[in-house]
Amino acid sequence: MCMEQIVQQIEAYKQEIAAFAPATAADLEQYRIKFLGTKGIVKALLSEMKQVPNDRKKEFGQLLNAFKVLAEEKYTQFEALKDGEHAAAGDTDFTLPAAPHRLGTRHPISIVRNKIIGIFERLGFTIAEGPEIEDDWHNFTALNLPENHPARDMQDTFFISKNPDWLLRTQTSSAQVRVMEEGKLPIRVISPGRVYRNETISARAHCFFHQVEGLYIDENVSFADLKQTLYHFVKEMFGENVGVRFRPSYFPFTEPSAEMDISCFICGGKGCAVCKHTGWVEILGCGMVHPKVLANCGIDPEKYTGFAFGMGIERITMLKYQIKDLRLFSENDTRFLEQFQESY
Ligand code: DAH
Repeated sequence: MCMEQIVQQIEAYKQEIAAFAPATAADLEQYRIKFLGTKGIVKALLSEMKQVPNDRKKEFGQLLNAFKVLAEEKYTQFEALKDGEHAAAGDTDFTLPAAPHRLGTRHPISIVRNKIIGIFERLGFTIAEGPEIEDDWHNFTALNLPENHPARDMQDTFFISKNPDWLLRTQTSSAQVRVMEEGKLPIRVISPGRVYRNETISARAHCFFHQVEGLYIDENVSFADLKQTLYHFVKEMFGENVGVRFRPSYFPFTEPSAEMDISCFICGGKGCAVCKHTGWVEILGCGMVHPKVLANCGIDPEKYTGFAFGMGIERITMLKYQIKDLRLFSENDTRFLEQFQESY
């Protein structure tokens, strides 16, 4: 190598050394071997001294010596550090991408609620939420459940002691009443939200849970519209092959009233523990809005008809993901919550 080439080479090495920032002790050891080892660059350059003409020996010697000091200083800067401290002590490269920030996962109740909302939004329903602290009128009386009506017993209620007219809503049906009272027709809304009941907490019951209420009011709305809407919902939510059946039922705010079952998708209708060997599981209550309810909310029952439905989000979530204990939803155990990775 001629002198000028060596000088150029040293410049390149200097830049390499300046940029060097070991991430680990192993990186530093590699550096030591490369520059300072017995077969390393510093030794190799020093051996070139023999070939340097006498008149340039001093100049070249100084250059080499400065290079050796530079290479050694870099090494001693990092030598005493432990693994993991190297990069922090060196010239940090701020252009590197940041360590990924781990995001949390959505709660399964939120995932299912958002899926339900999505299905009905695509049918033209909008969202109308009501308050969780309700008055007697919106939660019961307007819904054809006057004081002392025996059906009030179906929903064990938390009353607010300061004002006996206030309570924690027992059903999202109360939101229906508020929307109807606004009087803007036609109405096509869903009301997702939390409801409260004075139940002993167990694997199958809780003192709070979530519902989605649906309401559709217009001229000439029929039971056929109700069935078609709910058929569509079931296919979107549970898949094409799920069977649906309606059973007559009773709710004070609908006439006629029904409960809707879907064929058990766990056993395919053959019978298992989830469907209690019937092949069917109940998922919601529904019916045609009672003319008294329409009148209570200022809507002319001679002109308008409508349907309503209400479903429990926990129930659908438990079926969809085969969760056996309701308490898991409110215990905030991250081992449970992290299993639901959907970004919905
Ligand atoms: N509110 C009822 C409940 O909590 C569910 C329900 C049934 C809602 C029938 C409705 C309906 O709108 O039409 O058990």
